[in-house]
Formats: sequence, C-alpha cells, structure tokens
Amino acid sequence: MAGDGATGGAWWQKGVVYQIYPRSFQDSNADGVGDLPGIAARLDYLVALGVHAIWISPIFPSPMADFGYDVSDYCGVDPLFGTLDEFDRLIAAAHERGLRVILDFVPNHTSDQHPWFVESRSSPDSPKRDWYIWKDPKPDGSPPNNWVSEFGGRAWTFDPTTGQCYYHAYLKEQPDLNWRNPLVQDAMLQVIRFWFERGVDGFRVDAIHHLFEDKELRDNPPNPDWREGMSPARRVLRTRTMDQPEVHDAIAAMRRVSDEYDDRVMIGEAYLPIDRLMAYYGVDLTGFHLPFNFHLISALWTPTAIAALIGAYEAALPSGAWPNWVLGNHDRSRVASRLGREQARVAAMLLLTLRGTATIYQGEELGMTDVPIPPELVQDLWEKNVPGLGLGRDSVRTPMPWDGTLHAGFTAGHPWLPIAEANRVINVAAQQDDPSSMLALYRGLLALRRSEPALSVGAYVPVAATDRVLAYERRFHERRLLIVLNFSRQPLPFEMVDGRGLLLSTYLDQPQQINAPMVLRAHEGVIVQMP
Ligand code: GLC
Repeated sequence: MAGDGATGGAWWQKGVVYQIYPRSFQDSNADGVGDLPGIAARLDYLVALGVHAIWISPIFPSPMADFGYDVSDYCGVDPLFGTLDEFDRLIAAAHERGLRVILDFVPNHTSDQHPWFVESRSSPDSPKRDWYIWKDPKPDGSPPNNWVSEFGGRAWTFDPTTGQCYYHAYLKEQPDLNWRNPLVQDAMLQVIRFWFERGVDGFRVDAIHHLFEDKELRDNPPNPDWREGMSPARRVLRTRTMDQPEVHDAIAAMRRVSDEYDDRVMIGEAYLPIDRLMAYYGVDLTGFHLPFNFHLISALWTPTAIAALIGAYEAALPSGAWPNWVLGNHDRSRVASRLGREQARVAAMLLLTLRGTATIYQGEELGMTDVPIPPELVQDLWEKNVPGLGLGRDSVRTPMPWDGTLHAGFTAGHPWLPIAEANRVINVAAQQDDPSSMLALYRGLLALRRSEPALSVGAYVPVAATDRVLAYERRFHERRLLIVLNFSRQPLPFEMVDGRGLLLSTYLDQPQQINAPMVLRAHEGVIVQMP
C-alpha cells in the first residue's frame, strides 16, 4: 500500500495545477494572441473549475522563435503579454482568489537575442564568451561532433564573427547556457529570486535534463531502434547530451533558493524513464519537489499497462517523495485525440483520483482535441524544420474556445492559430450549463478531490487490472473510496461495486440500478464509497 500515513500538508501536494499557455488562453487587446489581462479576466473560471494553482508558460520578453521558450530578458514581461505591472496585478488577483501562480523558468538556453549571447558572440575575448558553449569546427569545417538539435538539423551553428560554433539543444535561436560557469549559475539563480520576491509561488523548470552536456563533447552513439518516420533527432542516443550527473547539483542550488522562501514549489520538466526520473527528487529530497511524471502520456492505454505503470512509479518513489501525474501539455497530442472523447472522461477520472499532484493542460477540461493545421498556417519552427512527421505542436496549442462565436470569445481580432470547428462546439459557454459535459465532470472531480482527503492525500491500493477494467482504492484513515474504470466500449459487471455508495460516475447521472453488483456502462468510470 503506497503512501499510507501520508500527511500531504503542502498546497502543491493537495492541489491541482492548471497549465495556461498564455498565447492561446484569452486575448484582451484584439491582437490575436492571449495576454496577462486576458488571464486575469478568466481567473473566476479557474476558481469555479476548482484548481488550486496556475502554471503560466513563458511570458518573458522573447523574439518568439519558440513562442517564449527563447527568453531575451528573464526579468521582464513581453509587451505582447503585457507589463510587469499587469503581472503584479494578476498575481494579486490570483492570490485574492486563493490561486497560486507558478511561472516557467527556462535555464537551459536563452534567446540568441539575449544581451548575454549578443555579448558572447561578439568576440572570443568577450567576458561572456564562456557563458555559452563555443567550439572550433573540425578542420574540414564540419561541426565539432555529431550532436543533433531536438528541432532538426545539427546542434551546432557556425558563427562567422569569431569562426566558432555554438551549441543549441533546440533551435539555433536558443543557444545553450554553460552551466559549468559559476557566473551563469549565479545570474540564473538571481532570476528565481527576482520572481519569488514578486510573490510567485513556484517554477516549472524547462528542459532540465538538457542542462549539461558531456564536458569532453564526445559523440552520441547511434540509436539501433531508430526507424524511418521517427524524429531525425532520435537517430542517436542522447547519452552525452542529456541527464548528465552535474545536473543534480544545479537543481539542488535552485531548490536552496526556493527554500529561502516559504511554501514555494519547484517542478522539473524531464522526459526520462522512471528509474532515472527519481534522481530528480535529489539526494534526501533536496531536488525538485515534483519532477514531472509524463508516463501517462506515452503509456499503452490498457488497464494492465496503466496498473503496471502506477505500480512501478509508486514503488520507485524515494521515501517521502510526492508523486505527480500529467495527461498532456503544450508539447504533446491532446488526450481526447489520443484516446477519443469518451475514454478521455475515464482518463480524467484516473488523473484526478491517482495519488499525487495532477496537472491539467488548458482545454483538457473541455475535451479539446488536436486541430489540424494547414501548411500555410504552421507556426512552430520544429514543423517547418522537419515537416511532415507530425512533430510540430501548433495543433495542441490552438486557442481556448470560450463560446460559439466566430473566434470563440478568445479574441476580437484574428487568432494566431485557427480555432477548429469541433472546438467551436466544444466550448466553455456550451458546457458550463450542461450537467453531463466534460467541464461538469472536471468540476465534479475537482470538487470531490477537495472534499475527500482520501483522494488528495490518501494511500493508493491496487485492486484489479484486467484487459478491460482498472480498479484501485484510495484510503485515508477509515475512509475507503473505490475507483473502477471501464477502458472498453462494452458494459462491464463489476462484482465489488455496490451502486448505493456511488459518489461520482463519468456519466454524471444517477446509477441505473442501486443494487450490487453494478454494471459499468461503456467507457464509464465510477468512484464508490466503500462500507
Ligand atoms: C520544453 C518546452 C517546449 C520547448 C522546449 C525548449 O520542452 O516544453 O515547449 O520548445 O522546452 O525550450
């Protein structure tokens, strides 16, 4: 029984995080791109939804080559999103409503327009030269080694000014900082302090597994499992460019800064297998409070595979470490597209009844699906660099549909990405008064999670996993809640469930029968109070 006796006191343990992709949440000035006043205008929606915290993807000054993940000033707000004053007002308004605010921190790379990089690239003798990773090309002019960019092409770009190459794990507009330079570390830790002083409650730390590369810049080995159709970046294994041992000292340094303040949270973005992910909690839990667990995104969607994943993850957690779960984000295909709308309701119940902090990606609560983007409207440079493989992320970043009007209440101008027909129907206005909508399901699940400590901090007890059903209990003291999820489209009798104890069905109606045993309907999940 995992987590028995957990007290789970902190807000980030009991709470549910809602990810806002600010470009696509709410536009307030008709420029077609969401902004901070737009977020402020929608805080009451988030309160009514029942989440506890918002994580806002980058809002800092940026040339937007990677839509904010290329930062040119860590201590400001891009005019597209608003001003620092508007940010201060947003955070005050959020706090007034009991909502915490988490910002994105992008430590691995800056924009190539950041003054640090402009200075660094100006001369080999620049005091900032060593803030980035510079290396001579090979004598034949080819790049220093075989490292490739996540977003297509080589990871080295030749800079004619000084005749050297700089390293970038992502776009060439995103040069990697050299975290082995203590001045870089200090400058970046100051950034964290800057925002904590403004009242920010935590950070989601971007691409942390990329922070260090092999000091000797040795080649990555070829990937024997690479196949046609996979990202060209996967042709090599990233043994020299990812998850290097030094990263843990850097994370511990970030954590020490967050510990200078009360009640803050540090969440790390690392796509890693479970065993390697656990190291990101740090020695004696001095690392991230929550290294993001993305495994539900890639897991095979069968009850046995999900049960095995939960078991493996729970078993691997270091003592005292707090779990977390995610169904999607601004980089991955939406859950309703991966699993279908009906099974997405089951997934929602799973997410919000598992032990651990849950993060919801904006629009998930509406059942939003991926929106096909015609070639002429593609924005993501990844798609432009490596077209046709479905790598681009525009389709999961389309604007929030607030109502059924032309631009879905998102903007009075022209939206930066299209709003699909389907999502124009699946909108907030249409769902908020529909007692059986996906939005109503999320609200119901979040309300139940708030009122039932068994769901937020209770122990996780596996019960059953067959080819169609997944069942587990959450327990807190004497309280026992049984969760049964039907992964199939057939009705499913489940002996253990007595309909009289039903707290919530994904169908959001009364059970058809109130005598045991209950028959779960197609794609139905239930939460049942056990005697
Ligand atoms: C992270 C972000 C992604 C971004 C990349 C580079 O994976 O989630 O959106 O493109 O880092 O910063």
